[in-house]
Amino acid sequence: MVVLTLLAPEIAELAKPGQFVQVRLGEARSAAILPRPFSIYDAHTSQGSIEILVSPVGLVTKRLFELDAGGSLVCLGPLGMPVELPSSGSVCLVSGGAGVAPMPFIAKEALAHGLEVIWVHGARSADFASTEYLGGQVFLSTDDGSKGFKGSVVELVTEKFIDGDAVFACGPIHMLAQLSKVRPHAYVSIETYMACGFGVCLGCVIPLVDGSLTRTCVEGTFFRSDVVDWITLLRELT
Ligand SMILES: Cc1cc2nc3c(=O)[nH]c(=O)nc-3n(C[C@H](O)[C@H](O)[C@H](O)COP(=O)(O)OP(=O)(O)OC[C@H]3O[C@@H](n4cnc5c(N)ncnc54)[C@H](O)[C@@H]3O)c2cc1C
Ligand code: FES
Repeated sequence: MVVLTLLAPEIAELAKPGQFVQVRLGEARSAAILPRPFSIYDAHTSQGSIEILVSPVGLVTKRLFELDAGGSLVCLGPLGMPVELPSSGSVCLVSGGAGVAPMPFIAKEALAHGLEVIWVHGARSADFASTEYLGGQVFLSTDDGSKGFKGSVVELVTEKFIDGDAVFACGPIHMLAQLSKVRPHAYVSIETYMACGFGVCLGCVIPLVDGSLTRTCVEGTFFRSDVVDWITLLRELT
């Protein structure tokens, strides 16, 4: 994974933790490719820049991964709802793999409000684990046990009784579904396929337990996990 710094003063000025941007490759020949959503990893108002974390999985992310300094991109944002932090106490940030992407910005804001930050991060192995944690306690799990707890990040949360006044989670959909069983009050970032990113195409809707549908790009991407209809969502997304 790499962190890309984008000079985007208008976005940096408005960005709040939990929001994302839609990124499109700058070249004219990429105009027909849909933009891809990326969580805002950090924002620096004074430098007019934002950061995104890129995990190279396919067409666009591999091109972003290889981008040279000074290259240009089309970037739209900030999009989505910011997360709401508790007025006091602790914030627990649970992430799997590239799901760590929204966490540094949330942690920065939480620390600025005097909140305790608890990081819980899971990765396939030590080589794939995030190494950037801003303040607070860090709990790490790896599937192969090469670093930290051996097992999933949800098993780690459960076995070590890790919790917070607010829990924010991001990662693979099955991880979030498992976490919802043990921490139903957690706010989970649901990363669906997106097209527009601002509420028009309805390509990102997810089912809720009350039978309604909601757009992840506008009403989310973070939802309290006990409002999500996980059975239907898992059937649709996997
Ligand atoms: C709100 C949101 C925030 C995101 N934040 C980040 C981030 O900070 N860093 C990051 O690296 N990625 C993030 N993603 C995922 C990122 O948008 C996808 O990895 C990207 O769309 C893949 O594009 P691609 O052209 O490289 O892959 P493609 O060539 O389009 O697809 C390659 C593979 O990835 C799968 N894939 C494509 N999109 C998604 C998706 N949204 N979720 C799961 N699998 C997908 C495809 O099914 C395919 O198997 C986020 C997604 C959302 C919805
Ligand atoms: S991505 Fe178009 S409505 Fe959400």
